[in-house]
Amino acid sequence: MSIVVGIDLGTTNSCIAIPADAEVPDKEALIAARRLRPVGDSLIVANPDRSPTTPSAVWIDPIGTPIVGQLAKNKARLPGAPPAMFFKRNMGTDQLVTAGHARLTPLEASTHILRHLKQVAEEVLGVPVERAVVTVPAFFETRAKNETTRAGQAAGLEVVETLIEPVAAALAYTHERARELTEPQTFLVYDLGGGTFDTSVVTWDPEVGFENRSFSGDRYLGGFDFDRRIVSWIAAQLPEYDLAIDSENPADGKVEAQLLSVAEGAKHDLSRYPETEIVSQYCEDRRGTPMNIGLPIRREEFEEMIADRIRGTLDDCDRALARAGMTAADLDEIVMVGGSSRIPLVASMLTEHFGRGPRLLNPDLCVALGAALKAANVPSRSGHLELDRPEALPPETDIGGRVLAGPDLASPAAAQLVLTSDDGLVYLTETADGEGRFLFADVPLREGENGFTVQVSAHGREIESRRLEVTTDDKPRSDATGDVLAHDFSVELVDGLHAVVRAGTMVPYRTDFRLETASHGSSLRVGLVEGLVPIGEVSIRDLPTDVSVGSTVEVTLEFETGWTIRAEARLPQVGAEGSAVIDIPQRAVPGWPELTERHRQVVTGWAEKRDAIPPADAIRVGPALDRLLAELAELVRERIDPSKTHHKLLEAETLVQGLRVATTAGSALNPAIGEFEDNLAFLARLADRLVDHDPVEAERFRGAIPGLRATGRAAYAAGNKMDWHLANEAVRDRINAAERMLHGGRAPQQFTAAEFQVAVLQEVEYLRRSIQEMDQASGGLHRVDADAFLRELDTIAEDAAEVDVRDEAAGNRRLVEIYRGRIMPLRARADRWMEQIREGSPHIGLRLPKNSLEK
Ligand SMILES: Nc1ncnc2c1ncn2[C@@H]1O[C@H](COP(=O)(O)OP(=O)(O)OP(=O)(O)O)[C@@H](O)[C@H]1O
Ligand SMILES: [Mg+2]
Repeated sequence: MSIVVGIDLGTTNSCIAIPADAEVPDKEALIAARRLRPVGDSLIVANPDRSPTTPSAVWIDPIGTPIVGQLAKNKARLPGAPPAMFFKRNMGTDQLVTAGHARLTPLEASTHILRHLKQVAEEVLGVPVERAVVTVPAFFETRAKNETTRAGQAAGLEVVETLIEPVAAALAYTHERARELTEPQTFLVYDLGGGTFDTSVVTWDPEVGFENRSFSGDRYLGGFDFDRRIVSWIAAQLPEYDLAIDSENPADGKVEAQLLSVAEGAKHDLSRYPETEIVSQYCEDRRGTPMNIGLPIRREEFEEMIADRIRGTLDDCDRALARAGMTAADLDEIVMVGGSSRIPLVASMLTEHFGRGPRLLNPDLCVALGAALKAANVPSRSGHLELDRPEALPPETDIGGRVLAGPDLASPAAAQLVLTSDDGLVYLTETADGEGRFLFADVPLREGENGFTVQVSAHGREIESRRLEVTTDDKPRSDATGDVLAHDFSVELVDGLHAVVRAGTMVPYRTDFRLETASHGSSLRVGLVEGLVPIGEVSIRDLPTDVSVGSTVEVTLEFETGWTIRAEARLPQVGAEGSAVIDIPQRAVPGWPELTERHRQVVTGWAEKRDAIPPADAIRVGPALDRLLAELAELVRERIDPSKTHHKLLEAETLVQGLRVATTAGSALNPAIGEFEDNLAFLARLADRLVDHDPVEAERFRGAIPGLRATGRAAYAAGNKMDWHLANEAVRDRINAAERMLHGGRAPQQFTAAEFQVAVLQEVEYLRRSIQEMDQASGGLHRVDADAFLRELDTIAEDAAEVDVRDEAAGNRRLVEIYRGRIMPLRARADRWMEQIREGSPHIGLRLPKNSLEK
């Protein structure tokens, strides 16, 4: 027979668990020998070291034999080639990792881990392990989930479900508390692990079981990032060593692995003690110089390194709550899981943010426990018999399943089934149907435990028999979830993204919707975006060019289990259609020169558009983009995490590209929303600095910010010039007041004239490049216009360069004139020009049908 196991395939650690009632020979002996550890209604399978978790590390020896787990992880600190670790972050990409004497794809490295876990489980349990529920971060995109399933297959495991990690954690938690819970509950699950951060709002109801209301998170945030911050800090403390790690140089992998390893050790210490010492043995720098480090580090220093990232997780929690239509007041409990939740700063920031203390749940095991509970509900199979998990609804239950053909049974329809209860009171017979299905309906149940045996016989001979236990506890049903979409799926329309399937939707799922054409062209493409990452398209080519604008386009999207997406588009007016299996490409991660260039483009693209987009868009997209760009600036500076940089760039690019630029002159409010938000952020920083001088005043400034923001945004969104002006004045007044307090009456200039001059010249340069690029892209068709623009820019640049910046006041005034009076209008004209050229593209643009209600 075979057992379905639950596997938490973690970035740092993996764990395998089975349902407590799984049929295992000598279960009690294994528990006594500490190879199985009972936790709740599951059993954790311990590894040969008797440890419940196994490091997700792989090291391949010179003849190709893999070493997995702690032994592999130890290689990081020893001389020689480093092990592969943290590769889960790169699932779905082509980023190779060094694993001792081999280079592996993330999928291959994951396969080694899963194969190892399967072997350990088979050794301990003494039965074959062929099927598994494997957990994945909620924020994994479809390609990464799909690769997880394939890694399972390659390891000889059928992945019956990729269960979302926060759902697994919630499942373990509600299950554990099921007996004491009587009232409906709302939880926020906060899972900060080694590589990913997931948060999720979960409700539990005694009638319904539990439901997952919303997700949010960061696919690239976890303990690994904190280790990296410590590594950067170490490098800064030790200028005498060469620690400038270059991600493109595999030889640097060794230095990086060593430093990450000592950093992690120090980080763990700091969760317990206010300070520790980073000590290295065996470490060498990039030149091979042995490093003798003994660096003291204090908890506050570490907290300062990571506070911004923890603050970011709170924003994600707020987003998850908002998506669930709830506020912090609706929460009954905040449940923390994941190893990084042990960092004391996490609990203290959560407490401060939500005004209540979170509860730390078995942080290393609970995802695996949830997976095992889920595995308990997967129909169990052995030889010829597959039994559905009966749902105990006292006073009776149905017991059903399927008989499968096999060596002893040519046709399942020939099978006879007999159900016997342990106390001999129930004795029923059934015959399987043509497909082998059978059902014993309304089997009576006693309170508590009920034991049954199902016997299969064919042609008068018994071929199989299985025991089955049913408990009448009203545990929450744990089958309330299946594979769920964790991201919104959107289509690209002429005025930005439009969500057509919402995060939280259960798979399999199919949706049909209508769009209409918004321009002319010879082909039509419906671009599909997951979260903010483009994943593919369905297109119809060679269309007659006179298809009228406003023609209906019908689209069907189908999400199948196993993470296949099918798309179909039809243009009934001309009887044309196209279909595609969205084969989400593995992300090919480019090198740093390309990443850096794209970063530059997206930053300038946003600076460009920010002031020209409709206010509502600025409010919707602005904060998210600012956050992304701040993170990207750091990633590009560090140059150590190309796949994360690539992913974040894709998101930022999608956001910027989707912004529609307002072309109606004069409609824009002054200043633009960006300046208002920047000023508010500046005010917050001033308030922070003021704390030491005057905490009461500092708090007053801080407290005023939300109100100022709300009033300002409302005025901006409504296009109310007077209110907008007043809101900006109010912010400026407070900034002046705060600066006076800080600097004893003198308000310093924010921008020196010299700095302003540089910014103006950069802006001119950017415009020049955009115009040249557009000219090239259009094959020189619009050279005359382009040349005119470029000549105009030359004179502006000359005038700006001549401004005398030694005279602050006059210099600034002159530069403002140039900026407002010449650059901004030219930019608006150039935008319109580029827009027109783009509209001449062969693709037909799409929009929502005029008479449709927005979803
Ligand atoms: N006491 C501690 N203090 C600080 N960090 C800790 C502590 N214990 C574990 N961690 C960190 O927790 C992380 C591992 O947590 P966990 O095992 O939950 O992650 P994972 O499941 O491997 O990752 P993910 O869920 O993101 O894929 C590591 O970064 C580890 O350094
Ligand atoms: Mg985890």
